[in-house]
Amino acid sequence: MPLNVIMMGPPGAGKGTQAERFAAAHGLPKISTGDILREAVQGGTELGRAAKGIMDAGGLVSDDIIIGVVRERLQRPDVDGGFVLDGFPRTVAQAVALDEIVSPRDLIVLDIVVPDEELVRRLGMRRVCGRCGAISAGAVAASEPATCERCGGALVLRSDDSEEVVRQRLSVYGRDTKPLVEHYRSRPTFRSVDGNQPPDGVARALQAAVDSAVSVLSMASERAR
Ligand code: AP5
Repeated sequence: MPLNVIMMGPPGAGKGTQAERFAAAHGLPKISTGDILREAVQGGTELGRAAKGIMDAGGLVSDDIIIGVVRERLQRPDVDGGFVLDGFPRTVAQAVALDEIVSPRDLIVLDIVVPDEELVRRLGMRRVCGRCGAISAGAVAASEPATCERCGGALVLRSDDSEEVVRQRLSVYGRDTKPLVEHYRSRPTFRSVDGNQPPDGVARALQAAVDSAVSVLSMASERAR
């Protein structure tokens, strides 16, 4: 049975941080639509040119474009054993499209819950490597290293992490993405996890949530036999 996991949650909830850890721990590909779009912006591709202004303003790239990107990515053979989706789906239309690409029955949906004021605090602190995109938490004080631990590139504020754009992203989340929680809540493999605790605690809570969802899936597949 493939381990198909969606990490949901508002901007700054820790989706990227936890998706990276979970994917590495389970040998799965992490598919982050935010990372795909930022790479496209950096590479100056057609997708990047279409997305840049929207991302900088805190809006959402159109469903058609992003569904096409994910559909193409989920056709690659490395997802046969499963995947971790970070930042997709983000609208009900994207969730409906995903249900047509992979079996909805096999999807484990994890919603990471963090209060707004903590989200704003985290995103104001976040610095990312301008070269490789790695996240460097809390490197804002003058005493902190200003270069990336992974590649030595300069650390910068992500272009959509200014306070004004963060507020806009949170408002777009509330309007377009939060309804997805209701879309998924009644499924037996939906789990809500407290993201307002240290990263190791969040990782443990997510693993426990996945374990319980997997046992629900296993029982269902036993019954179907
Ligand atoms: P995307 O990159 O997906 O941004 P986001 O959803 O706003 O999420 P973030 O990356 O800001 O936060 P995160 O939850 O991943 O948290 P992180 O782990 O980094 O998308 C960017 C843009 O692309 C969108 O605005 C949109 O324009 C476009 N886009 C992407 N997908 C799209 C789609 N499907 N449809 C349409 N448009 C799309 O953590 C944040 C910070 O907190 C870090 O500094 C981290 O170190 C720290 N941190 C993490 N966990 C903890 C913890 N437990 N305690 C304390 N600090 C923590």
